[in-house]
Formats: sequence, structure tokens, C-alpha cells
Amino acid sequence: MALRTEEKVEGIKKVENMKATAKANVNIALIKYWGKRNEELILPTNNSLSLTLDGLYTTTTVHFKEDLKEDIFYLDGERVLGMAYERVTQFLDIIRKEANKEHLFAEITSKNDVPTAAGFASSASGFSALAAAASKAIGLQLSDEELSRITRRGSGSACRSIYGGFAEWEMGEKEDGSDCYAVPIAPKEHWDLRIAAVILSDEEKSVSSRDGMRRTVETSPFFDGWVESNPIDLEGIKEGIKNRDFKKVGEIAEANCLKMHATTLGANPPFTYWTDETVKVMQEVRNMREDGIQAYFTIDAGPNVKVIYLPEDEQVIQERLQKLPEVTEITLSKPGDGITYL
Ligand code: PMV
Repeated sequence: MALRTEEKVEGIKKVENMKATAKANVNIALIKYWGKRNEELILPTNNSLSLTLDGLYTTTTVHFKEDLKEDIFYLDGERVLGMAYERVTQFLDIIRKEANKEHLFAEITSKNDVPTAAGFASSASGFSALAAAASKAIGLQLSDEELSRITRRGSGSACRSIYGGFAEWEMGEKEDGSDCYAVPIAPKEHWDLRIAAVILSDEEKSVSSRDGMRRTVETSPFFDGWVESNPIDLEGIKEGIKNRDFKKVGEIAEANCLKMHATTLGANPPFTYWTDETVKVMQEVRNMREDGIQAYFTIDAGPNVKVIYLPEDEQVIQERLQKLPEVTEITLSKPGDGITYL
């Protein structure tokens, strides 16, 4: 009898502790992830490489409770329902299955310090914070690679935000995705590369990255060229990062971004994430280079532009960008940390 009581006490204690909070930063891809070979498992058609940024992040608390009949999700103080809720709860199903606790539901409280769905990888910070908090709350003890592999199922690019500094997402070869996760390339201390996120519009984007990728893979004749050229860009940029060769890294990142966006123009029906404002900022970055200021751009699945530069040019770059009437906000970021538990 005594043993039973102990078990029971132990059981209650475990339930009470099923709560964890994690903070994850966004990451910006210098070599883009664009295209899936398996939509359900989120397996990409190429490796990608990113820099995790300081100061643009999501903080998420996950609390599994015995008495809940379904998950409850709050984002920035408001209850979330519909598609966004489905994505979160389907992702938690993966974690529940992994932990063998499929009967447990959670209260999820998330705070985004990133404009949602405006071409920023807020899904990256969102799903990595959720994966880290949920797996810890439910009692899974995962290595970084295992956490990255699970995080990938929420949003592909999120699997890189597990790490600080530079990270590479390896596409892997296996059909079950067991060799598909991100690995660290260089810590944030390796190189103080800066990124200015130039916000032009915080409206929801018209084509989600998910739909955009699918349409491109299925219909764009440029897609094969994109996949083929990627390993060359990847090899070059890794060499550049290792040697802190800014020109090399900037040139490759900018060209890689242009190739990704070119695939969308070849899709059927064609589409682009760029607006007039996007093109104006791209042109200003080129003008800066002509004036001897070292700056390059990269763009994700939205209109906003990220400018890559070195600390010594921060002031002049900020001044030049602020002068553009199209620009509504600029955030300046240094390399940031990976997942932290609060
Ligand atoms: O992981 P998703 O579905 O948010 O896709 C992100 C795709 C890009 O941001 C355009 C590129 C990347 O590698 O982050």
C-alpha cells in the first residue's frame, strides 16, 4: 500500500510539473529553403543555411493539463482558432505521440516579438519555441538534433532556429526524414554579421510559403535549375563564413535569393512576393555598393527586404534606408542565441 501512495504522489507531482517556457529567435536564410520533396514530413529539396538573429523572437509557454479536453492556444493575448490553431494542435500531436502521452492536451501561451506573416520567418521562431517548450513540458529529453528534427514538422525553416549563430539544415536522403535536421555551423561569436530587416508592409502575405513552394515545385521550369545550383552556393557560402569573407557571403546570399524568387516567376500561374517598394529597396542596396558601402540584400516569402552588412557600416546603412519613403520600420539585428528555456 505504501508503495502505491508513493506512486500516486509521484504521479501528481509529474502532472503539476508539465509546464515549460522557451524563447526562440527568428533566423534568416542566406541559402534559401524553397521546395519540398515530401509535404507531410516537410522534407526539402535542398540544404539551406541561416543566421539566427538577436531581438526578433517568440516566447511560448506550454502547460499540459490532465483536465483539458482539447488544446487551447493564445497568441499575443488572444485565443487563436481556425487554421493557425490546427497547425499548432497537429504539431502537438507529433510531440504527444513521441512521448506516448496522446491523451494529454495543453494550454499554449505565445508572444511574438516579430510581425506575423509579413515575410519574416515568424513561423521559425514560433514553431521552434513551441517545439522546445512542448517537448520539455511533456518530459521528452531530446538532443539538439532530435529537437531540430521534430521542429521541422511544424515549419521547415524553424528547425534552424534551435541553434544560435550560423546553422545548416541538411535535407537528408531517407524517406522517413530521420536524417533531415539542422546542425550548427558556427556560433554567434564567430562573426558579427548584421542584418537590417526593412519593413515595408505588415499585411498578411498573399501566397503562403507552403503554397508558393508547392506551385513552384509542380509548375516552374526554373525549379530544376534552382535545385542544381544550390550545392555550389552552399559550398561557397560555408567557405565564406569560415573565412569571414563578407564580399563572398554577400554576393552568394544575394544571388541565391534572386534565384529562389526567379522560380516563382516561372510558376503557373506566375507570382512574385516583390512589390514596387521591395524593388526600390533592392535598388538602394545596389546604389550603396556603388557608393562604396558594403551591403547586400536577401528576401523571403514576402515583400520585406533584409540587408546584410558589417557593424562598421551600420550607421550609414540605417541613414540611407530611413530616407526611403517606402520604409515604415527598420530593425537592426546581431547574431543571436538558439533556444533558451526560461
Ligand atoms: O518554413 P517556412 O514554411 O516558413 O518557409 C520558409 C521559406 C523561406 O523563408 C522563403 C526561406 C527560408 O529558408 O527561410
